Amino acid sequence: MNVKELVTAFKEKFGTTPEQAFFAPGRINLIGEHTDYNGGHVFPCAITYGTYAVTRKRDDQLVRLYSVNFPNTGIIEFDLNQLDYDKEHNWANYPKGMIRYILEVGYEIPTGFECVIHGNIPNGAGLSSSASIELLIGVLVDGLFELKIPRLDLIKLGKKVENEFIGVNSGIMDQFAIGMGMKDAGILLDCQTLKYEYAPIQLENHKIIIMNTNKRRELADSKYNERRSECEEALAELQQRLPIEALGQLSEAEFDENQHVITNETVRKRAKHAVYENVRTLKALKELKAGNLEAFGQLMNQSHISLRDDYEVTGIELDRLVEAAWNQPGVIGARMTGAGFGGCAIAIVTNEEVENFIANVGASYLDNIGYEADFYVASIGDGAKEIKVEAEV
Ligand code: GLA
Repeated sequence: MNVKELVTAFKEKFGTTPEQAFFAPGRINLIGEHTDYNGGHVFPCAITYGTYAVTRKRDDQLVRLYSVNFPNTGIIEFDLNQLDYDKEHNWANYPKGMIRYILEVGYEIPTGFECVIHGNIPNGAGLSSSASIELLIGVLVDGLFELKIPRLDLIKLGKKVENEFIGVNSGIMDQFAIGMGMKDAGILLDCQTLKYEYAPIQLENHKIIIMNTNKRRELADSKYNERRSECEEALAELQQRLPIEALGQLSEAEFDENQHVITNETVRKRAKHAVYENVRTLKALKELKAGNLEAFGQLMNQSHISLRDDYEVTGIELDRLVEAAWNQPGVIGARMTGAGFGGCAIAIVTNEEVENFIANVGASYLDNIGYEADFYVASIGDGAKEIKVEAEV
């Protein structure tokens, strides 16, 4: 669906023409998984799949939202003066939370508005469709009412929606990647200080393939929160000996020397992943900058193994998919991406092997798991922004 079609849908739903259009991408994370809430580094990028909205201000205080992806929920309507979480409002709680927090920090939203939204991020695939809609509404409200909200503030408000309005204790990676993404660049972000740098990713002879397990991410949120508290437990024990604020401050050697103070073996493994993965992420950036794509790929593979064995967030579907990828010719590296427990993996594959790769990994996955995986070639795109109403998608 392109923006033109969204405009048509808007006319059908609301009987007028939209004034402005906005886009927010999804994201993949190249390496640095489950490190963000541990004060470590991440290396994500925005992708060209994302969420679109066309919109128009209203004269009253009502917000009326329609998603082409969820036609059954119809137009969801709420008042700017009544922004509590409402289970019945389903997906619209993300926009609602975002509007609420923008108001709470003191910006003025003088009138309501209506919009039609459409996302082409594969559903429930762990490519951050929720952060995408948070930032979409963020840039939309900012643009529609000319509020001039600093981008980092929008990013933090998006995270707050996730943490406090929805109840997932996630870190800042997704909102940051979506808010700050840049075409053909990854973002190395230090999640403790929020210092970041862009690193060009120009893979002339390779493609990044997104592989979707199509496994529904059931219980993912509760397991995510559980991992987070395990890491907090490890940190509290380590803090009895070490003057640290986050696991991401430790080197591998420092962790190895002190790990025995973590009493629970499972918790120790979780912390090991957080520390080693952070170090791996910094190594990966160095290799990428030096043009050593092979070494970068090896680090991706190690990341997956650590997430599988120590952090235990992969599961059979992601493991079979990634193992099948490792066994194909022309593969530089492959790993799960995002929170895990289903969702997507990524692989870097030589151009001429892409077709074979998809056929072989697809067949192997179907054989092992009993249903199909989906494959997409990823393009690295810009962060959330206003687009032309007449833009072609
Ligand atoms: C999810 C969260 C992020 C991050 C990743 C794991 O995507 O939203 O904050 O923790 O999982 O790296």
